[in-house]
Amino acid sequence: MTVRRTKIVATLGPASNSPQMLEKLILAGLDVARLNFSHGSPDEHKARAQLVRDIAAKHGRHVALLGDLQGPKIRIAKFANKRIELEVGDRFTFSTSHPLTEGNQQVVGIDYPDLVKDCGVGDELLLDDGRVVMRVESTTPATLECVVLIGGPLSDHKGINRRGGGLTAPALTEKDKADIKLAAEMDLDYLAVSFPRDAADMEYARQLRDESGGKAWLVAKIERAEAVADDETLDGLIKASDVVMVARGDLGVEIGDAELVGIQKKIILHARRHNKAVIVATQMMESMIQNPMPTRAEVSDVANAVLDYTDAVMLSAESAAGAYPLEAVQAMARICVGAERHPTGKSSSHRIGKTFERCDESIALAAMYTANHFPGVKAIIALTESGYTPLIMSRIRSSVPIYSFSPHRDTQARSAMFRGVYTIPFDPAALPPGEVSQAAVDELLKRGLVEQGDWVILTKGDSYHTIGGTNGMKILHVGDALV
Ligand code: G6P
Repeated sequence: MTVRRTKIVATLGPASNSPQMLEKLILAGLDVARLNFSHGSPDEHKARAQLVRDIAAKHGRHVALLGDLQGPKIRIAKFANKRIELEVGDRFTFSTSHPLTEGNQQVVGIDYPDLVKDCGVGDELLLDDGRVVMRVESTTPATLECVVLIGGPLSDHKGINRRGGGLTAPALTEKDKADIKLAAEMDLDYLAVSFPRDAADMEYARQLRDESGGKAWLVAKIERAEAVADDETLDGLIKASDVVMVARGDLGVEIGDAELVGIQKKIILHARRHNKAVIVATQMMESMIQNPMPTRAEVSDVANAVLDYTDAVMLSAESAAGAYPLEAVQAMARICVGAERHPTGKSSSHRIGKTFERCDESIALAAMYTANHFPGVKAIIALTESGYTPLIMSRIRSSVPIYSFSPHRDTQARSAMFRGVYTIPFDPAALPPGEVSQAAVDELLKRGLVEQGDWVILTKGDSYHTIGGTNGMKILHVGDALV
């Protein structure tokens, strides 16, 4: 049996909201369901989340829920006639004083007053993800006067970016703050922060999450040029997060598509180094919005992210609004498994020659070294409170499955994000200490995941409840009497 290690995040939306479709997606391998807080009401999100949890439970699957905050995407206001058509060389003005519903062929309003302050003559502005491009020719206190460099249609509420980044809107809007509370109420497993500029934005989000009583792990969406401008900022942002997302839509617009692949590889590498999980997102299967099979270029894009050892690959409109959500999940699953067969995914020279910072990290990495170099090892069992021990283990390339054994619902779901990690509900504290190893291995035997004669690695701490307490590793021979 080939078990896929790379995880699939799929965005839910009109194409995937029905119980029937959700069940198909979960059976096809959906690991993390993304709820996009840019659309839909709190009640709709709550109903959808409950449905995911109910269907997953029915099939014994552990599916994590990720809420994605809208963030401060800067947008133009509206046109009197909904859309205009711009030609190369046309003059066009953005105005903070123009009425917000009265855009026309010459001017449109914008309700982000700092736009004029943030931009200067010579700056390039990208509208609608770069489909229309303009250069600022002159400014007044309320306007940016531009010339069109790439023409095309422009319609209500299209997004606006500056080439090179630097629009200063803070990462969390009032709506985001309300949605952080909603996420706590819904007990979401992950919460994605849009457009964070640096570590301070993530720390603020963490403070708000704590105040709301939520336990969601925080995902930093890397989508501003300034977030990747130097290693110090990027690493600061990564360290202040639990997971990072390579959010290629806006990032590609701001830094240019030519830079994107190199930056993607760097973000994956740096995230893993700092013991964080990482998701690659945006347009991975874009043509599957209309077609039942991906292009070769899309196959190659997903496979490339898998070879770089991302934890998860993500579907956006393909699963939310496309005509083939099920086919998109199936194709992604198939491509991940294919790419994982490549030998570079199976062994690791990572961290050889490095010093470790913590006791649990040392044990986790010793477990991976043993698993990768002792051929009889067929499984790793990590007893875990928070999911942290299997997360660190899965930073190391390996073909040995890591089983996250935890009694907690949130940890069981959260582990669905990590590459090569699979959840098994298990409560060591409910057993006499002398029976825990045997009971854990019996769980694997019962599920057909190991057989007599296999070797299994098990990690745990002296107490059965302490986060960060892992301080021991055992190598167990299946079939022997175990203590
Ligand atoms: C379980 C084990 C403990 C261990 C802990 C580590 O509770 O029974 O012995 O200390 O997991 O949890 P962590 O959240 O650090 O992976």
